[in-house]
Amino acid sequence: MPRRAQISPSILSADFARLADELARIDGTADWAHVDIMDNHFVPNLTLGLPVVEAVLKSTLLPVDCHLMIEDPDRWAPAYAEAGAASVTFHAEAAAAPVRLARALRKQGARAGMALKPATPVEPYLDLLPELDMLLLMTVEPGFSGQSFLDVVLPKIRRARAAIGDLDLWLQVDGGVSADTIEACAEAGADVFVAGSAVYGKDDPAAAVEALRALAAPLVGRS
Ligand code: DX5
Ligand code: ZN
Repeated sequence: MPRRAQISPSILSADFARLADELARIDGTADWAHVDIMDNHFVPNLTLGLPVVEAVLKSTLLPVDCHLMIEDPDRWAPAYAEAGAASVTFHAEAAAAPVRLARALRKQGARAGMALKPATPVEPYLDLLPELDMLLLMTVEPGFSGQSFLDVVLPKIRRARAAIGDLDLWLQVDGGVSADTIEACAEAGADVFVAGSAVYGKDDPAAAVEALRALAAPLVGRS
């Protein structure tokens, strides 16, 4: 299946008091709306949970890409799929039974994603890849938007792309992705790009999405 560049703006950098308006600014341009769920335990920040995700789902036509930075995703993640999130990503470092969880998410009709923090190697998880629809390689330590891109993750992106081979599995990057860094990510093998401050920190978020996609698109599929 030919790969294409997809942009998933993170609403963590949007105005939380006006979420419906902020989502409308990327509707029709973005491929996804990326929603960061943090529990103040897995990461040192607290954002939002299922009630707000349900409100987001009602207020946008964009498919919702939930990134769960929480402890015990085995317990909490399936509810996000059941609520209607089109993609639900849990962290490998927090999951007790990642294969069982990925199967539960797919059974609820969601795409199953698994995330790795920058220092977590991909190699122990290679046998799990057929159970997943997306692998997220974090390019910052999870917890906050606006951090600097960690280029030490690029070799891991390359190794993951090689391991994915012909599998129908998307490779997402998240953290510090901007006009300055997206080409390196695409060249290394990423095809889904989360961007928070590089979209919502701009005056025209839709134009920022288009500009990011234009930079990545020629490189996606070449690696
Ligand atoms: C960080 C979150 C990201 C964050 C990205 O832990 O997972 O999605 O919002 O923000 P930027 O693109 O500003 O690094
Ligand atoms: Zn995220």
